Amino acid sequence: MLLTGIGELTTNVAHDGDACGTIRDAAVLVEDGHVAWVGAAADAPIDRETAAARRDVGDSPRPGRAHAVSRGVEVVDVAGRAVLPGFVDSHTHLVFGGDRADEFAARMTGTPYAAGGIRRTVAATRAASDDELRARLAGFVVELNGQGTTTFEVKTGYGLTVADEERSARLAAEVTDEVTFLGAHVVPAEFEDRRDDYVELVCGAMLDACSPHARWIDVFCERGAFTPDESRRVLEAGIARGLLPRVHGNQLGPGEGVRLAVAVGAASVDHCTHLSDEDVAALAASGTVATLLPGVEFSTRQPYPDARLLLDAGATVALASDCNPGSSFTSSMPLMIALAVREMGMTVDEAVWAATAGGATALRRTDVGAIAPGMRADLLVLDAPSRTHLAYRPGVPLVSRVMKDGAWL
Ligand code: NIG
Ligand code: FE
Repeated sequence: MLLTGIGELTTNVAHDGDACGTIRDAAVLVEDGHVAWVGAAADAPIDRETAAARRDVGDSPRPGRAHAVSRGVEVVDVAGRAVLPGFVDSHTHLVFGGDRADEFAARMTGTPYAAGGIRRTVAATRAASDDELRARLAGFVVELNGQGTTTFEVKTGYGLTVADEERSARLAAEVTDEVTFLGAHVVPAEFEDRRDDYVELVCGAMLDACSPHARWIDVFCERGAFTPDESRRVLEAGIARGLLPRVHGNQLGPGEGVRLAVAVGAASVDHCTHLSDEDVAALAASGTVATLLPGVEFSTRQPYPDARLLLDAGATVALASDCNPGSSFTSSMPLMIALAVREMGMTVDEAVWAATAGGATALRRTDVGAIAPGMRADLLVLDAPSRTHLAYRPGVPLVSRVMKDGAWL
């Protein structure tokens, strides 16, 4: 398929100081689920007959529709719209039962967010059947795809028994390759007075059951969740079992999450709301991505993280939704971009890069997050002439078409 008539193509292949690698009046050739060629539409490698057929059809009343097929190449003219890599949401918690709308409403009238709410979702998740959780998950996948997300990570962490965590990991693996074992989300109520036993369970039987389904090990390193020592034990146990580390840290206050993440070579440390100068310097000097989750600050009414500080120091920043029923019940990457631009000092280009290539870096993926030959053909068409509209028109459903592995969703 040749996608042409692209007014503004975001490739994320940097050129001339443009990290988004913009090409105007562009075309993309897709073959076998991958990008085969990218360039100016005028240089597109289609034969004359195809080009003629396309001209004959003229302007379609429904732009984005196939205009012509010749010698097996379907030509789709997007009539000046912007095309971007599909969003890469590197942080979600989508396996859960129930919701906590009442907590959200209370927060909006002044009740502070507390990690303890996680236990309510744990109870609802344990009570849900496999089919209920599976159906919910399938609904979220439709929701994510419809908003332009083509790669997403899913964490466990609302089961917190061996059987419930294994089930969460198994169900997550049905919808994504990026499954994260988060048995160390909080200490469940039944282990309240035996937290050491719980950490041992996470590092032993629970990890044994979950690691076959997972790629990542994560821990909520925070006051009210797990101490730095406990967190390190969990991460090291996961690493020993072949999982790659990532960390929830510095969300509710300053702490050692960032330094721990850097020390163990985590791919990402997520939240980063409360950072010291040392944390920022450590991130900038490391290969650990700072993943910012502005849906959390929006939904918990907290000050946003300082993305500018991180970017100016040279750290790699990603944006993710953290979609979960407690602190951020949104799956909208366009909303994350709008918040990052409006509230966190990011330029539109930085925010769009962070929501695509940044997410891919946070997941150590080199096959998604950019539109370049050899990459997966995961992209989205905006019903707008430029990526700036993602922040300029907040809340408007601008994502008009989404392609994953070369097929329209
Ligand atoms: O990423 N920080 C820890 N976990 C989730 C919140 C989960 C919840 O409140 O249910 C988060 O914000
Ligand atoms: Fe989270």
